[in-house]
Amino acid sequence: MKIGIIGGTGGMGKGFALRWSQNHDVMVGSRDAARASDSAKEYTDLAKEAFGQIKGTITGSDNLTVAKNSDVLILSIPYENIDSVCPEILSQVKDSCVVISPIVPMVKTDVGFEFIPIKENKPFSYQLVSKYMKNKLKLVSAFHVISEKKLVNPTMVLDYDIFVCGDDNGAVEVVNGLINEIKGLRPIYLGPGELSYLAEISTPLLLNAMIRNKIKNPGIKII
Ligand SMILES: NC(=O)c1ccc[n+]([C@@H]2O[C@H](COP(=O)([O-])OP(=O)(O)OC[C@H]3O[C@@H](n4cnc5c(N)ncnc54)[C@H](OP(=O)(O)O)[C@@H]3O)[C@@H](O)[C@H]2O)c1
Repeated sequence: MKIGIIGGTGGMGKGFALRWSQNHDVMVGSRDAARASDSAKEYTDLAKEAFGQIKGTITGSDNLTVAKNSDVLILSIPYENIDSVCPEILSQVKDSCVVISPIVPMVKTDVGFEFIPIKENKPFSYQLVSKYMKNKLKLVSAFHVISEKKLVNPTMVLDYDIFVCGDDNGAVEVVNGLINEIKGLRPIYLGPGELSYLAEISTPLLLNAMIRNKIKNPGIKII
């Protein structure tokens, strides 16, 4: 499978690339093709160091090239940039492409981490990205409650749940498969995309709990 990461030069992108390159061809996207290429080289070295040989590859290109060639595309960009990035790239994806949004609409204020849709009366991430999807059924929301620090550290033992929201069983199954490939992560389906705000708001909840109670490496696990 060809997995594209828009904004793949960031922390989450690095984690996804390291983890999924074990089985897939990962394409790191950036606004700057040279930066994407540099990151791809760095991630390849790190993946080989961590896992020995990898079955897939990690390459880098500009975001649009990555979007056009992906079977699965993960939007690893800040909430604030959805409107500037998504119209061009999402109009160019293959009809069959599954798009994943891990985007958390969150802001740090005097009181702690807050949820932008409630604080500023704005759409949640799934709603906003959905506006730009050719086929809205292919959009799946996931990975909001796993920190980049855990994804980029292949030796860290994971034991966390990942909330998943989406409207199409087939697309959700593809994302569940990718979650299961990361040892120690379990997909937990919450329901259709219109419930994605529940997953998205879990991140500020978790971060406030972490900071106020000095909890190291918090995550969510339903028991
Ligand atoms: N960090 C976490 O632990 C974590 C956990 C769960 C979910 N998330 C969510 O995952 C997404 C990615 O997180 P991250 O921490 O990796 O983000 P990030 O490092 O802040 O940004 C990721 C990439 O987005 C691109 N970008 C930055 N500003 C942009 C702009 N103005 N226009 C277009 N692209 C821009 C950059 O790539 P180029 O400059 O190379 O284009 C950057 O490397 C976010 O939506 C976040 O809410 C993060």
